[in-house]
Amino acid sequence: MSRLIIVSNRVAPISEGGPAAGGLAVGVYDALKETGGMWFGWSGDVLGSGQPEIRLEERGPVTFATVGLVRRDYDQYYRGFSNATLWPAFHYRPDLLQFDRHDFEGYCRVNTWLAQQLVPLLRDDDVIWVHDYHLIPFAQALRTAGVKNRIGFFLHIPFPAPQVLLAVPPHRALVEALCSFDLLGFQTKPDLRAFCDYIVNEASGSVDTSAQGPSIVHAFGRTLRAAAYPIGVYPDEIAELAKAGEHDKPVRTIEATLHARKLIMSVDRLDYSKGLVERFRAFERLLEHAPAYRDKVSFLQIAPPTRSDLHAYQEIRLQLEGESGRINGRFAELDWTPIRYIHRQYERPVLAALFRTAHVGYVTPLRDGMNLVAKEYVSAQDPEDPGVLVLSRFAGAAHELTGALIVNPVDVDGMADALGTALSMPLAERKARYEDMIAQLRENNVSVWRDNFMRDLQQVSGDEERVANEAATG
Ligand code: G6P
Repeated sequence: MSRLIIVSNRVAPISEGGPAAGGLAVGVYDALKETGGMWFGWSGDVLGSGQPEIRLEERGPVTFATVGLVRRDYDQYYRGFSNATLWPAFHYRPDLLQFDRHDFEGYCRVNTWLAQQLVPLLRDDDVIWVHDYHLIPFAQALRTAGVKNRIGFFLHIPFPAPQVLLAVPPHRALVEALCSFDLLGFQTKPDLRAFCDYIVNEASGSVDTSAQGPSIVHAFGRTLRAAAYPIGVYPDEIAELAKAGEHDKPVRTIEATLHARKLIMSVDRLDYSKGLVERFRAFERLLEHAPAYRDKVSFLQIAPPTRSDLHAYQEIRLQLEGESGRINGRFAELDWTPIRYIHRQYERPVLAALFRTAHVGYVTPLRDGMNLVAKEYVSAQDPEDPGVLVLSRFAGAAHELTGALIVNPVDVDGMADALGTALSMPLAERKARYEDMIAQLRENNVSVWRDNFMRDLQQVSGDEERVANEAATG
C-alpha cells in the first residue's frame, strides 16, 4: 500500500492530547493516526537568523517532518498573503483584505522552498495530500521539481463565489495553480460549485458532472477531478472522552459555580469569521427580551488567541472585550456573571467534558468551511439527556447537521429566539434531533472522509489523462 504524505502549514502538536490549533490539525491528525504515514509542515518556529533545517520525529505510526520559517517568509507567506489576503477573501470579507505584491511573491517562494524540502523525503509510490489555503501552489512547485506522484488538495475553508475571489489580484494564478493537483476536495457542494463557476465563467474551462463520482474539470490545459468531501470527527471517541471527564475538576468547577443554572457554550479561535460579536449581542437580546432567563443561564465563551500579530485580530479582541464587559455590566448580579469569556486554550478532553454539561452548543460563524466544534458538541452529548445545537447556516456543518436549530448569524433577534427555543426544548425533541445528528456523524466520520478522498485520488492515478497532463506540464 502506498504511504500517505500529508502536507499542511500547521501540523498537530506533536505531543498527543496537547491543545489543537483549529479544525485542520484536529481532523488531519485523526485521519492520519490510523493509516500512519508522514506529516510535513511548519514547526511553528520563526527563526531570527540561520537556515531552517528539517526535524524528523516519530510518534506511533506517524513521522512528523517539520521545518521553521525565517522571519521574512513568515511575514510574507503566513501573516501576509495567507492570512491578510486569502483568509478574509475566502471568508467573504473583502473589506478586510490587504494585498501586497511582495507578499504574494513570498507566498510562492515559500511554497517552492517547502516543496524542495519535501522532495528528498519522497518515495515513488507515495500519495501526497496537501491541505489548505497556505499551499495552493504546492503541486505546481512539486511538478516543477520533477515529482510524478499523485497529489491531492483539500481546502478546509470556504471557496468563495467568483465575484469575491476576483477581489484577490492574483486570482487567476491561484486557480491555475489549483489545477496542477490531480484531485481537489472541498468541504461542501456550494464550495465546489463556486470553484466550478470560476472555471467555466472566468477561466474558459469546462466541468463535466455526467459521470458518477468527482466532477471532471478541464482548464489551463489540464484535466483534474473535484468533489465535496465534508470532514468529520470520531463521534464515539469524543463521547467516551466526554463521559470520562464527567467528574473531573473542570466540570465540577463549572457545575459548582453555575448553581443549577443552564449553560450555553461556545469554543472558537478568536477570529472575525466566527461571528462572536453578533453572538454576544444575541445573548444580550435574550436577556433583554426574556427577563425570566436572567440569573437562570450563563454563557461560556472560550476563545483562544490566534494570529494576534495581525491588526484585524487585535481589533476583534478589543471589540469582544468591550462587548462582554458592557453586557456583564448591564445584567450581572452579585452572584451571577452572564458571560464568562475566557481568552485561552483548553485541551480537547476538557472541552469534550464541558460540552457534555452544556445545555446549548452555540456555534454561529459568519462563514466557516466546516466547523468541527459543532460536530464535537453533538458527539459529546449524553444520549439520554442531550443538549441542543444552535448552528449558523454559513458553517459547512449546517449541510449535515439538520437536527440543529439553524440560524442566520447576523440576525441577532433570530438568534436570541433560537437560544430561547433551545433552552426550553422538551426532552423528546432534544433526543430526536440528537439521534438524527449523531447518526449522520457516525455515517460520515473522519475515516470515511479520508477513505473517500484517497479512493478518488488513487483512481485518478494511472489515467491516460495524467500522462497527458504530464506531457502538457512538460
Ligand atoms: C483554520 C485553518 C487551518 C489553520 C487553523 C488555525 O482551521 O483552516 O489551516 O491551521 O485555522 O490557524 P493558524 O493560523 O493558527 O494555523
